[in-house]
Amino acid sequence: MLYVIDTAHIEEIKKCVEIYPVAGVTTNPTIISKENTDFGTLIKTIRDIIGPDKMLHIQATSMSAEKIVKEAMELQQFVGGDFYVKIPVSPEGLKATKILKRSGIKVTMTAIFTQQQALISALAGADFVAPYINRLDNIVSDGVHVVSEIVEQFKNYDLKTKVLAASFKNVEQVHKVACVGSHAVTVAPDIFEKLIYHPLTYYAIDDFEKDWESVYGDKKILDLIG
Ligand code: G3P
Repeated sequence: MLYVIDTAHIEEIKKCVEIYPVAGVTTNPTIISKENTDFGTLIKTIRDIIGPDKMLHIQATSMSAEKIVKEAMELQQFVGGDFYVKIPVSPEGLKATKILKRSGIKVTMTAIFTQQQALISALAGADFVAPYINRLDNIVSDGVHVVSEIVEQFKNYDLKTKVLAASFKNVEQVHKVACVGSHAVTVAPDIFEKLIYHPLTYYAIDDFEKDWESVYGDKKILDLIG
């Protein structure tokens, strides 16, 4: 399982990369627009923070295959490192994916809502497909079920494409896509923090501290064995 952060907020990225086992960063035009800053500087700064080995997914903004391909190639040059161009699934997006695969540029096909969109994206050469869990749940569909069938299809047809589940609003959705074998999840920082939160853990840590202090006072291990 790969955990990816779904944000372009510099401070949040710094914090998450320092704390969690993060495999990379995903953005989209909505996420980038929220930062309302110079685009080039922003993506270069993200690359500097995460380093060249972590994945950086940046979405193309053009609609025609020809322009998507051009944007992807320029972005790859500009941002460097382990780069993925995100392309919303569409006829032009699929056409661009096939061209980009021949040029060795990695593609994450995004805005996936159905199993067939995912399968066709995989056959066109996408490295990742990104199904939108919460947006499916919001329309009384079942995001986790869609992910489970995509994972099954990729296994059945021995496809190398991975599922990068996206659009989460709670920990349960993340947990359930992990249970059905999603290869990766991209999670906003506020949900990320909740993934490891449990009040009983804090009670346990508190008890450990109190019991230790009842015998050793404010001395720590290094004071006792140093
Ligand atoms: O990575 C896709 C994701 O950003 C969409 O999430 O919360 O806008 O549905 P959301």
